[in-house]
Amino acid sequence: MKVLIVGSGGREHAIAWSAARSPLVEKIYCAPGNAGIREYAECVGIGAMEFDALADFAASHEIDLTIVGMDDPLVGGIVDVFESRGLAAFGPRKNAAILEGSKAFSKDLMKKYGIPTAAYEVFRDPEEALGYLRTTAKYPAVLKADGLALGKGVLICQNLDEAEEGVRQIMLDRKFGEAGKTLVIEEFLTGREVSVLSFTDGKTIRTMTSAQDHKRALDGDKGPNTGGMGTFSPSPFYTPQIDAFCQEKIYQPTVDAMAAEGRPFTGIIFFGLMLTDQGPKVLEYNARFGDPEAQVVLPRMKNDLIEVIKACLNQRLEEVKLEFEDDAAVCVVLASDGYPLSYEKGIPITGFENFEGKDGYYCFHAGTRMQGSQIVTNGGRVLGITAKGPSLAKARENAYQATQWIQFSNKYMRHDIGKAIDEA
Ligand code: AMP
Ligand code: GLY
Repeated sequence: MKVLIVGSGGREHAIAWSAARSPLVEKIYCAPGNAGIREYAECVGIGAMEFDALADFAASHEIDLTIVGMDDPLVGGIVDVFESRGLAAFGPRKNAAILEGSKAFSKDLMKKYGIPTAAYEVFRDPEEALGYLRTTAKYPAVLKADGLALGKGVLICQNLDEAEEGVRQIMLDRKFGEAGKTLVIEEFLTGREVSVLSFTDGKTIRTMTSAQDHKRALDGDKGPNTGGMGTFSPSPFYTPQIDAFCQEKIYQPTVDAMAAEGRPFTGIIFFGLMLTDQGPKVLEYNARFGDPEAQVVLPRMKNDLIEVIKACLNQRLEEVKLEFEDDAAVCVVLASDGYPLSYEKGIPITGFENFEGKDGYYCFHAGTRMQGSQIVTNGGRVLGITAKGPSLAKARENAYQATQWIQFSNKYMRHDIGKAIDEA
């Protein structure tokens, strides 16, 4: 098969690495890709939002399967464009990707179908939102821009002053653009966060192993929200009892609800869960692999990724049993100092050769590009250093050791990725 991967981050590097291991795959392209993805794929200079150009490329290069890694093109309807041209693309259509694309939609869906989630109200008028915050809301209150905002459209407001400022930023100043036209105000939940990724063919759902992300920029979960500073898998807090509850009350009901709404979902559903005292609740849905969740989940998956994707597209997922290795994995993101606010790019990176021949160690590229024959930084999140180990503690030790193999002058990382596992 010829495979095209759409995206350019660490997640797409992990997908390319996984696809390259499949005996079914003869050639991989990635649009637009990055300096690391080149190891497995021919990178093509087409942007992820250029749907017609991507479909032209897929048609002219006889691509058998396109895998869409990123949220924006999915929410924008890339799969519909491919399907209308008879091209196979893995991911939800536009009418199903709304599960991630609109928080108001996903909250209303959960309410309608009794899927556990935080209590909420939806506002389209800033004055009404302010009125609610002044009279009815409890604090802390959670403010969410309805649409996509690079994982940064969620504000946790401790008091009315902060909430008023939040409404101003999201709805009036439109800090997240159109995403802030509608606002969701949600009850604040406490507990452990867990990410569970799944494959679905619209009818059957098969969950992958659990993971946990660290979204805040600084050690101790302080500082601004980022796309994710590191992950570990599995989560020791995600017990078989919790899994059984979620399978029955959250995972299958979500797939069934989408089908019942006339929006059958084929692709990856990422469940962002909070394990509260009253049981697991959904914080959010994503319509694609997590980044950097993919960088710890895919290295532990025993199945052939391409076979599983084919089963989803042929509605045969029921026949598939997903299997994961018994080990653990930790991914530490090497970022540019200053991320997510402001940071320098174009800085030379050295040390990649240290990963050669080292089993169980992975250097997934996120924001990198070639400058002549030199690899340089090209984003806030630069690399995801993943290592496996027989236990989470050992995997963490290995990952942090490997972070020392790479050098660039503004290298920044958190030092407590996976530290919570000591409490498990
Ligand atoms: P989301 O993009 O919805 O996952 O939100 C980003 C982050 O905000 C989550 O990973 C949580 O840490 C936090 N968050 C979102 N919703 C809530 C909530 N209802 N209560 C507490 N924290 C939340
Ligand atoms: N790591 C969180 C996300 O991919 O949305």
